[in-house]
Amino acid sequence: SQQDRTERIERSLDRLGDSVVILGHNYQRREIVEHADFVGDSYQLSAEAANADAEYVLFCGVTFMAESADIITDDDQTVILPSMEASCPMAGMAEALQVDSAWGDIESAAPDADIVPITYMNSYADLKAFCAEQGGAVCTSSNAHRVFEWALERGDKILFLPDKHLGENTAHRLGLEDGVVEWNPWNPGEDANDVADVDIILWDGYCQVHERFTTEHVEQVRDDYPDARVVVHPECRREVVESADVVGSTATIRETVADADPGETWAVGTEIHLVHHLQRWHPEASVVPLCGDACMDCNAMQQTDPNYLTWVLEELVAGRERNVIEVPPEEKELATLALNRMLEL
Ligand code: 13P
Ligand code: SF4
Repeated sequence: SQQDRTERIERSLDRLGDSVVILGHNYQRREIVEHADFVGDSYQLSAEAANADAEYVLFCGVTFMAESADIITDDDQTVILPSMEASCPMAGMAEALQVDSAWGDIESAAPDADIVPITYMNSYADLKAFCAEQGGAVCTSSNAHRVFEWALERGDKILFLPDKHLGENTAHRLGLEDGVVEWNPWNPGEDANDVADVDIILWDGYCQVHERFTTEHVEQVRDDYPDARVVVHPECRREVVESADVVGSTATIRETVADADPGETWAVGTEIHLVHHLQRWHPEASVVPLCGDACMDCNAMQQTDPNYLTWVLEELVAGRERNVIEVPPEEKELATLALNRMLEL
């Protein structure tokens, strides 16, 4: 039962003491969030990992986040991911090998241009390393506009990977919406003609949880709750972001609802577990999912089953390290460079 499991988790944590810290992403399920020492967005989680003193960082999130934690923690700290199946599909839409091979095509479509590759945090360490090697950097949803400005001071164009919606929303925020082209890595033919004329080249990746939201959902929620305000994540489509009142990372979404006055209604366009947490954490506000019953959970985030958390903890008590995330040293060095370029801005 859940009661037994909670007791087992607590017993292991008592035995392990300060040697373990549990970090959880805002999209994790309730039972995981309740056991976590810190719950936050992907930027905050990497900052927490960087400051952690514990020997073991148990990362309840997805693979790319655990990799970033490994890059950022000291060599004598170990990062553990309770489920090795927790892979973000969007991060998988831009594999380093595939980007490497497309890079030549993109460069030859604009032979005189200096193209700077920027990758969203939601990508694997080898792609972060590739971007660093080509003079680029990493960004998160909270600093994408600053990283874009930095890149356009260094070069003529940006190749943004993998999330086309965050890329388009950021271009729009900077007033560059006319200078954007989508690059379809499976069929670059037609897009290649436009590359020489644009500022931003968008890799054709997306998050299926956030792409689902449409302007019809926003209109419907405004009809159903005339006083409601709408907050969405920047992985949503541009027209959804434009029709919302607030846009931001999962930390910004949390702060927005936390600051609500009693009785206010907020319609939230993001992963459904966070929407439920927000209603539980802020019962004085009214929190509704932006697309009603059709809102989705993130399958990758839900791979972190509480039974896996119990297992990795009990294995640590028994002296066995399971599901260790370790970025190879040659990738680590370059990926650190890409992350530091972001952190220095
Ligand atoms: P945040 O950095 O806003 O937490 O986003 C991570 C993510 O995966 C959103 O889908
Ligand atoms: Fe990836 Fe989307 Fe899940 Fe975030 S919500 S981890 S981008 S699939």
